[in-house]
Amino acid sequence: MLNVDISNIWGEYTLNDLLSLEKEVFAAHKTLIEGKGPGSDFLGWLKLPVFEETDEMVRIRAAARRIREHSDVFVVVGIGGSYLGPRAAIELVKGQNHNLRGKDPQIFFAGNNLSTRAWQELTALLEGKDFSINIISKSGTTTEPAIATRALKWMLERKYGADEAKKRIFVTTDPAKGALRQMATEEGYETFVIPPDVGGRYSVLTAVGLLPMAVAGMDITEIMFGAASAKRDLEIFSFENPAWLYAAARNLLYRSGKKIEMLCCYEPSFKYMAGWWQQLFGESEGKDGKGIFPAAAEFTADLHSLGQMIQQGERNLFETVVRFAPPRKKTMIEMDWKDLDGLNYLEGKSLDFVEEQAFQGTLQAHTDGGVPVILVQNDEVCDRTLGELFYFFELSCGISAYMLGVNPFNQPGVEFYKRNMFKLLGKPGYTN
Ligand code: PA5
Repeated sequence: MLNVDISNIWGEYTLNDLLSLEKEVFAAHKTLIEGKGPGSDFLGWLKLPVFEETDEMVRIRAAARRIREHSDVFVVVGIGGSYLGPRAAIELVKGQNHNLRGKDPQIFFAGNNLSTRAWQELTALLEGKDFSINIISKSGTTTEPAIATRALKWMLERKYGADEAKKRIFVTTDPAKGALRQMATEEGYETFVIPPDVGGRYSVLTAVGLLPMAVAGMDITEIMFGAASAKRDLEIFSFENPAWLYAAARNLLYRSGKKIEMLCCYEPSFKYMAGWWQQLFGESEGKDGKGIFPAAAEFTADLHSLGQMIQQGERNLFETVVRFAPPRKKTMIEMDWKDLDGLNYLEGKSLDFVEEQAFQGTLQAHTDGGVPVILVQNDEVCDRTLGELFYFFELSCGISAYMLGVNPFNQPGVEFYKRNMFKLLGKPGYTN
């Protein structure tokens, strides 16, 4: 199970400051699991992690098998909570270059932007390929995925004819409401459910995340096992609970003027996990004039760019560093007779040994420079670890947002840009 180490946050703060938050964390956790706080009709995600395989999981596996058999490419259409989770999961576990491996179907993401260039690049990639699509939208009305859906549906119908196209369109949406549900029913597409009480950014452990992960060749039972183990382990009501430590430490730091949290990881394939985390915490906490700004950095790459700002810029940030145990298979640094690069002092050392020293050196430098660092330590990257991490962050976010005094489960601010855009586009009902 993952653990949280807060031994690098002290400086201006003491253990007593953290302990003084005990009653608050307790109340926030209790409010959350008893469903007594604002937004409590969106707590379905608490029940998602289960040890036994559900009927929906069996159907997801069967659909994934069919998709893998008849598709070179699987296009996942969705935005926000209907996009970041699956992309984060697939890239972390299968690697950023998973599409180049040739073993599993290539997975592309669409409907998460309005870029003509991105769209034209995708359609060129689909040329001559057998493909299927998964449209993910809880509301079924979001503009970006709706535009991509219309075009991909036509492409499939032109290529395969209406009947075969139907077998290649998979819809993940609300069980009863919305334009997408209606389309799926009328056209006879296979559908998967986003439960009404699960909001977009908390939906990764539904078919939203599980179908794309299964198509990518990931073991969804293991992912669920990880999430269910985390759920069981994070039920404790004390500072033994890593979610308590994380939620309390970040609130303590925020109250002392650390308004920016930078989620850092030494794995390049963590990039979209950081994006998923940014949405989770950003949409859950950024409201009522409050909230820690969720930023992200990839180390060591960003130590050569943002590193200067972190080390000596305004002292308004703290870091949360996500660590994974190194892979069992080592990569060694070899001896070179000429030693022209002067690297022979590392001969016989493994790459992860060098990475560990970079991590330790950075930790020391940043804490010396006045940047508190929270550590989230995990086992090696795998399906199970991923499931644990998803649930850990979701629970911590719910607790933390209640400590902050906001509703973690709404996102009223997201509507503002949409209203302006719809008015400019002349969407019926938005013209005045
Ligand atoms: O967290 C959220 O609720 C949002 O980010 C949504 O997931 C996003 O706006 C997409 O919405 P929908 O799934 O309805 O298309």
